[in-house]
Amino acid sequence: MKNTFFSCFFILFLVGFVTAQDLKSPNGNLTMKFHLDQNGTPVYTLNFKQKAVIQESKMGFVIKSDILLNSGFQVAETKFQSENSTWKPVLGEQKEIQNQYNELKVDLVQEKSKRKMSIYFRLFNDGLGFRYEFPVQDNLRHFIIQEETTEFNLTGDHKLFWIPGDYDTNEYSYSTSKISEMQSLVYDATHVPLAAQTTIKNLAAQTPLMLKTNEGIYINIHEAALKNFPAMCLNVNDKTYSLSSHLVPDAVGNKGYIQTGSFTPWRTIVVSDDARNILSSKMILNLNEPCAFDDVSWIKPVKYIGVWWEYFTGGGSTWAYSDNQDVVIGKTDFSKLKPNNTHGANTKHVKEYIDFASLNGFDAVLVEGWNEGWEDNTAFKKEHIYSFTKAYPDFNVKELSDYATKKNVKIIMHHETTSSVSEYERQLKDALTFMVDNNYNAVKTGYVGPIIPRGEHHDGQQMVNHYTYVAKEAAKHKIMVDSHEAVRPTGLHRTYPNWFAQESARGTEFESMEGIHPDHTTILPFTRLMGGPMDYTPGIFQGDLSVYGEKKNKLSTTLVKQLALYVTMYSPLQMAADLPENYIKFNDAFQFIKDVALDWDETYILEAEPGDYITIARKTKGKQEWFVGAITDENSRTALIDFSFLPAGKNFTATIYEDGKTADYKTNPQSYNIRKVTVNSKTKLKQKLASSGGAAISIK
Ligand code: NOJ
Ligand code: CA
Repeated sequence: MKNTFFSCFFILFLVGFVTAQDLKSPNGNLTMKFHLDQNGTPVYTLNFKQKAVIQESKMGFVIKSDILLNSGFQVAETKFQSENSTWKPVLGEQKEIQNQYNELKVDLVQEKSKRKMSIYFRLFNDGLGFRYEFPVQDNLRHFIIQEETTEFNLTGDHKLFWIPGDYDTNEYSYSTSKISEMQSLVYDATHVPLAAQTTIKNLAAQTPLMLKTNEGIYINIHEAALKNFPAMCLNVNDKTYSLSSHLVPDAVGNKGYIQTGSFTPWRTIVVSDDARNILSSKMILNLNEPCAFDDVSWIKPVKYIGVWWEYFTGGGSTWAYSDNQDVVIGKTDFSKLKPNNTHGANTKHVKEYIDFASLNGFDAVLVEGWNEGWEDNTAFKKEHIYSFTKAYPDFNVKELSDYATKKNVKIIMHHETTSSVSEYERQLKDALTFMVDNNYNAVKTGYVGPIIPRGEHHDGQQMVNHYTYVAKEAAKHKIMVDSHEAVRPTGLHRTYPNWFAQESARGTEFESMEGIHPDHTTILPFTRLMGGPMDYTPGIFQGDLSVYGEKKNKLSTTLVKQLALYVTMYSPLQMAADLPENYIKFNDAFQFIKDVALDWDETYILEAEPGDYITIARKTKGKQEWFVGAITDENSRTALIDFSFLPAGKNFTATIYEDGKTADYKTNPQSYNIRKVTVNSKTKLKQKLASSGGAAISIK
């Protein structure tokens, strides 16, 4: 009798009454409060140092066929858990990462339907991550998400660093504005030439979204571990300053096919009153699963040059071998076509690049335009565009593979798919085998243009699965992947470290097209790079493209800022993108690119303000050697570089690559000076940076 009474009481206590829960970060600075409102809707808030960062925000899903997984809930059970451990990334900004958080798991059940959903909240010292679980249950197995209804209700008209919400691209320029100013800017922001573009009609922004409040709180909203789920864009209500999730739909408008017994990606909110802590946050990586591979010995950082920039300079070099556009893969005999004599990826020319790479200590040479299929200008219209196993007649695969091996250089494979994705999947295993047979260990993939299957989007569930499939298949062949135009990263390089870099933002190629703003690279680390390394392809020394012919483009930076990017834009894959002739011409500045490391023991964010400036120091993995990069936007400034990251009591020689006295990105970009100074842990250096300039320092 006593027992029955007790258990009844216990169940009542759990179901229905436990509706509010608090969670604190390990250092106590952040507080997350969870409760169910009067409709049984899950609601959370987030406070930083006693101040609201996220006001009451609803959570949940609307499921197709009128199922609501966002109201009518009761709390069945809550569980607390804590973690404090460290782990080592295969490649990274630091050799060891601390994973410390307090977790609250809330099991929810809908009273009438008995449908269940759980929410995991993890509160770290640097932010909040939460995700939904759809547990295996009797009344729900397969379902289609119509929309996720997670809100991020902000406390005011914050400053925002944003690109428009889009299902197919992240290659926009950033706008900096108040939330209330977005509407007046969105027309210009979206009316730009991009190869594939599906902008969200109502006001929306892409993640990672960087915000700053009037009180100087920095907030970054993104997601972690995006797998088998569409990417999340954010609807923006510019009257209430409310953001809400907007998942990328598929071709028929559905937003995710789910089987119960699964999790959503984590929704992430990184918070600090110091912008530097946003850049040093490892929360997104911590929310990803550990490395999925036992053997990672084949995963290495790569510094490369490429038969690449010459296609963008306007100098006449082409990806295509001939001018005959009526080619059909598998039918056309390319050896019978009349060559156009401008084909860049020919054996002789590639050998020159291999020689240059070998001479200057580069790991690899990217070769684009090596394979059949680049002729057809209307390529987006057809499915069978490229062969990934047949080279053009003037590209001798075997000869080049042997030559590269002899010179201790790898060739980086290129798979531009122009988004004919089903065809790429059909060829993938053959393509990977072809790579292994010919001694390739890395591939740059590309998804220019609209997706085939038609109607699918770059950032939808199907494509999210495609990118992960490619990374996993490549790993089976010990091949590293650098994807361009793929969905923006969410820290999956922790789990699949061979997927070691991505583009997924406006990169250097745009310096030859519509241009890049001087503040772009001071924003990217706070936005796109929050999810993972970027193949930004810096290193352009000759920024005046009129020297090559038709184009009039001028680089948006000084030459020295190009050097600093190797430190400020983290990636274990770094390109020296310019033509070898320009590196020969500026040989002393080129030395920095040759020296700079790609993999690090430690990273020190010395100065940072999104949109304005970034100064970062890093210690080379396994070496007593450091590199510093400082960059600024269009405003010249004096960086204050504090060398206290150096071991105490020892002097070191620092080689400083600095903007010349009259350097200016518009009028005098190539002016630079190189000097050597002695530094130690007490040195504080005032370093002048030109307008859109920088400083790059190597310390031994
Ligand atoms: C776009 C990529 O970003 C660029 O690097 C590449 O050269 C072209 N596509 C062609 O594949
Ligand atoms: Ca691109």
